[in-house]
Order: sequence, then C-alpha cells, then structure tokens
Amino acid sequence: METPRFCFIYLLMFMSFCVVRLNCRNATAEMADVGVILDLDTTLGKICKACVSMAIEDFYSNRDHNTMIMPHFRDSGTDAVAAASAAIELLKNTQVMAILGPQRSIQADFVIDIGEKVRVPVISPSTSLALSSKESQYFIRSAWCSSSQAKAIAAIVKAFGWKEVALVYEDSNYGRGLIPILAEEMLTSNVLMANLSAVSPSAKHHQLLQQLEQLKTLQTRVFVVVMLPNLASRFFQTTEEAGMVSKGYAWIISYVLTSLLDSVDSETIEAMQGVLGVKPYIQRSRELNHFTKRWRRRFHEENPEMDRTELNVFGLWAYDSTTALADAVERVGVVSPQFKKPMQRWNLTDLEALGTSNSYPSLVHLIRNYKSKGLSGDFSISNGQLQPSAFEIVNVVGAGAYRVGFWTERYGISQKLQVDDPTAVYSTKKDDLGGVVWPGRGVIV
Ligand SMILES: *[C@@H]1O[C@H](CO)[C@@H](O)[C@H](O)[C@H]1NC(C)=O
Ligand SMILES: *[C@@H]1O[C@H](CO)[C@@H](O)[C@H](O)[C@H]1NC(C)=O
Ligand SMILES: *[C@@H]1O[C@H](CO)[C@@H](O)[C@H](O)[C@H]1NC(C)=O
Repeated sequence: METPRFCFIYLLMFMSFCVVRLNCRNATAEMADVGVILDLDTTLGKICKACVSMAIEDFYSNRDHNTMIMPHFRDSGTDAVAAASAAIELLKNTQVMAILGPQRSIQADFVIDIGEKVRVPVISPSTSLALSSKESQYFIRSAWCSSSQAKAIAAIVKAFGWKEVALVYEDSNYGRGLIPILAEEMLTSNVLMANLSAVSPSAKHHQLLQQLEQLKTLQTRVFVVVMLPNLASRFFQTTEEAGMVSKGYAWIISYVLTSLLDSVDSETIEAMQGVLGVKPYIQRSRELNHFTKRWRRRFHEENPEMDRTELNVFGLWAYDSTTALADAVERVGVVSPQFKKPMQRWNLTDLEALGTSNSYPSLVHLIRNYKSKGLSGDFSISNGQLQPSAFEIVNVVGAGAYRVGFWTERYGISQKLQVDDPTAVYSTKKDDLGGVVWPGRGVIV
C-alpha cells in the first residue's frame, strides 16, 4: 500500500519542479539556432564550451524572453578546412543566425569569408591582428586584439632601462602578426631590436636547442617571447637546458600564453621561473567568484581527467559574448524564414543557393557595437572589436604567476590600478613594479 502513495508524492515533486523550470523557460520562445565551432580537443575549447552553455542557461533563467539561443556545437580540430566545412554544414542544414568561434585565426579567416557571403555574423576570439585588416562587417572579435599589448611590453622594457631586446616568435599567423607592432613600439621607446628569431611551431628539440645556442651569442639577454602554449612549453624547457633561465636573463611573454599558464604543465612552469608576462586584468567580483565556483564544479564533473584546469579570461569572454548574442537576438527577434533565397539558377554553389540571412543588418549592427557589464568586467565591443582595458603584469614564481603591477594606456605602469586621476601622468617607473623575482633568482643591474 505504501508504494503508490510514494510514487504520487514523487510525481507531485517532479511536477512542481517542472513548473518552476517552465516559469523561467518560455516553452513557446522562438528558437535562434547558433553554430559554435571550437577545437574540442584543446583545454581552451572545452573551457569555452562549458562557458557558452552556462551563459545560455543563465541568460534565460531569470527573465522573460521571446527568443532562445539553441547552440549547435561542432568540433573543428586545428584544421582550417574542417572549420570552414563545419560552418557551411551549419548554415546549410541548420540555417544558423550567427556563429561563435572558431578559435584559431587561420580558421576564423575562412569562416569570416563564409559569414560575409551569407551575411551571418562570426563572433571569434581570435586575437590575430591580421584579421583586422579584413575589415569585414560580419566579424566580431570577442578577445583583445594581440596588438593591444605591444605598448605594455614596451613599457616594461623601458621601466627596467633595457636598451636592447631580442624577439623570439612562433612562425605562425599568431606570432608573425604581432612582430611588426612590437617592433614599432620598441622603436618608439628607443629600444634596439637586437634580433628577430622565428621558431617553427613544429621545431624539434635539437632545432630549438640550436636556435637557443645562437641566441645565447647575442649581446642582449632580454627576450620577448610571442608563442602559444604548445610551442612555448617545449621552448622554455629547452631554455632551461641551454642554461638561459639563470641570473642575468630576462624573459617577457605575451598575453595569450600568460593567460593560459595554468594549462601549462608543471615542468614548464618550473623552467619559466622569473618570467614576466602581461595579461588582461579581470577584476574580482562577487558574481565572478560565484560563477567560478559553479563553473569549476560543472567543468570537472564533465571532464574529470582535467582536474587542474581553471577558468580563464577566454572562457569569460566566451560567456560574455554569448550573453551579448542572446541579448541582441532577443532585441531583434527571430525571423522566418532565416534566409532569403536567391533566384534559382542551375550553376549555384552550395553557399549561393543558401542565399543571405534575413537578420541582416539588424543583428550584426547590434553586436558590433555593444556595451554591457559582464563577468569579465566592462564588456565593450566597438566597431566589431572587444575594447582592451588594463593589463596586469605578472611574474612566474613557484607554481604560479603573481601580480607585480598594472599597465594602462592612460597611466602606464602603476602599482595599484588607477582610475580617473586627472593629475596622474603616463609613467614607466621600475619602482612601480613590486618585487620581481628574476630567473636564477638574481637581479639584473
Ligand atoms: C514567450 O515567447 C512568445 C513567442 O516569442 C511570446 O509571445 C511570449 O510573450 C513569451 N512569454 C514570456 C513569458 O516571455
Ligand atoms: C638573428 O636573426 C637571424 C634571422 O632569424 C638569424 O639568422 C641570426 O642567426 C640571428 N643572430 C644571432 C646572433 O642569433
Ligand atoms: C551561372 O550562369 C549564369 C547564366 O545562366 C552566368 O551568367 C553566370 O556567370 C554563371 N555563374 C558561374 C559562377 O558560373
């Protein structure tokens, strides 16, 4: 006799739970299909996937809404052609309104061209400056452009009074893109570029060692390194072997690597002791702390093997740009049909046959100029570019990286983050950088 009553109670509990859920989820909301193209083999791809899903859940859970984003995840791997075919497949079969991703500039390059043909916005976190020159009206960069850090790096060089530096960069779109801007900033700061050295992303250990032995013969011992984590790991482990992580040397790394340091293995961190880096400063807030806890629980449940992985700035930007897209879709609505078909002709290509998005131009225009308070702080997209603000300068010591100061366009280097001080002037003083620990725990004079 007990069993049916219990079943009934469970059923009641279940129903009330559904009602609570349905209150927040508008069952008749218009579905907005969105493609999400990520490299799901990478930690970063997995981090972004969790953030996109959580942004969608959070956005609709506490407001009335007429529309709802339906994400369609596709794994692009590292391949540009795979990313492009994922985009075409999403447009053809799902008629997506917008595409989030892909991660790599070489992939984004293709996907933006496709978005342009069908007038669908592509919101990609690629930092490559090369993409800016495309000036596509359909491209929204949801990360700080890599060029934004050049002045911050030059300011560090200036603060320590170094007269010569050598640039070592990854021979890829990413590395090559940043070099001209860094070179220009060094020139402006009267710093001599002693050497420019390209390292192939597929360089073997002995090649790295050989290249480092060459760099060792340079007069300068100050190196600016522009590499992504994959190559950087092998590179820094080799610098240690070449005896270049010792007293007298100084290494500065660029922001993508600095932001991804916690996905780098511990042997590499060991080899990077004393390295300085710049990275986007994210102000802690109650919302962010709360989100980080939820994210951690969920991510580690979904990816139990990645128990060391922490949320990073790219994840927060993925969250904020998904929220921005959801907000924009809510404001412009979902049109049906999604695409305007062209006149039928026998020789149309797949993309031409698809036509152009009916959401153009309202959706693109809204996202290309968008301001909000996000988890990452002020999330401001202007003319399709996420606007940079303060950089944090960090020093790799022990198992992590510790802040030694800030750099802002307005005030230069400062110990504390300065806000709206009309009397302050741009300065690059070494004393404003707190206690740097150098390679070999030495001090450069
Ligand atoms: C749910 O969506 C429909 C269709 O867009 C809209 O008419 C209705 O007002 C929405 N309801 C709520 C509670 O947001
Ligand atoms: C400086 O850079 C060039 C070009 O990468 C390279 O061929 C040369 O060997 C470098 N010089 C030194 C001393 O490392
Ligand atoms: C397709 O055919 C039309 C004539 O039917 C022609 O004008 C046009 O150039 C062709 N386009 C391509 C891409 O071949």
